[in-house]
Amino acid sequence: MKSVVIEHPNQLTIAERPLPAPAAGEVRVKVSLAGICGSDSHIYRGHNPFARYPRVIGHEFFGLIDAVGEGVAPSRLGERVAVDPVISCGHCYPCAIGKPNVCTELVVLGVHRDGGFSEYAVVPADNAWVIPPAIPDEHAVMVEPFTIAANVTGQVNPREQDIALVYGAGPMGLTTVQALKGVYNVSQVIVADRIDERLQMAQRSGADWVINNSQQPVQAALEARGIKPTLIVDAACHPSILQEAITLASPAARIVIMGFSSEPSQIIQQGITGKELSIFSSRLNARKFPVVIDWLARGLIDPGKLVTHKFHYQQVTDAIELFEKDQRKCCKVLLTFN
Ligand code: NAI
Ligand code: MN
Ligand code: ZN
Repeated sequence: MKSVVIEHPNQLTIAERPLPAPAAGEVRVKVSLAGICGSDSHIYRGHNPFARYPRVIGHEFFGLIDAVGEGVAPSRLGERVAVDPVISCGHCYPCAIGKPNVCTELVVLGVHRDGGFSEYAVVPADNAWVIPPAIPDEHAVMVEPFTIAANVTGQVNPREQDIALVYGAGPMGLTTVQALKGVYNVSQVIVADRIDERLQMAQRSGADWVINNSQQPVQAALEARGIKPTLIVDAACHPSILQEAITLASPAARIVIMGFSSEPSQIIQQGITGKELSIFSSRLNARKFPVVIDWLARGLIDPGKLVTHKFHYQQVTDAIELFEKDQRKCCKVLLTFN
């Protein structure tokens, strides 16, 4: 089989590798579609501190089960599945309290272990979630990015009367906007980004109004309308945003951060305690695949609004370079494996 392998930083090969056999408790997935994410590019460029090389990248993928390991029901052969990349131990403290996404022995497919940019991938059977026939392949491959939004929103229970502010209109901001509008019916969702084309995508995903904060500071735009957001999600992840969010927030607001910056964020406690703000963080997803599959089945979200390009996996280098260079035209880029 062919696999997209990052041999070491900045060296990508399409390698011939032996077809893997699923171990006990695993299934083999014949991959048909995969999505490119910022973290794939970070591993390619050597910017992910968790990555070990060589590595088959890719953690957003969909395909058919074509082999099962010992202990897995043969009836699973032929299932259409989306694969949860989060593998956890099941018994540590975070696992015990329902946060396997921060398991003390966390393994993420495509990061710590070979992932889905490959003609075949072996994965734990429990991580392969069946996709109902009414959900098309191109929606199924987008389950993983929407699980990030399911995890973010799951931390804060959005309400209709919330005024939500989302920083960043990349894939993570857009999935969050779709969840806030489509699933939770939040009355007002405001999006801030520095790129007009990205803000147009946010509007197509349901944002009620948008702020280009390269032209006008978010604070001035909100003050002009007399608005104080009650729910703020930072999907842009610059270290300066947390303090800005604290300043802008309504009393009793919730803030969710999802960035991995190692730069310090300077924050003033008075701004948090004075308004009794709640600050949450969100990483990956805690078994949110069934949640998102249900959203898709009920037509509450539309992943098609994020997909801008599709390439055959043999063109993966071009695909990643386009993804890295052109945030105006490019949002979610899919790879096909058939
Ligand atoms: P992206 O790079 O496609 O989108 C980020 C967007 O934020 C861009 O449109 C950019 O113009 C905008 N932006 C940057 N600085 C800004 C600022 N100061 N104000 C307003 N907008 C700004 O990235 P993507 O894939 O949407 O991911 C966003 C962030 O989420 C990344 O930092 C990534 O590391 C993080 N992430 C976190 C995850 C988690 O589970 N915690 C999972 C996936 C991504
Ligand atoms: Mn991703
Ligand atoms: Zn664990």
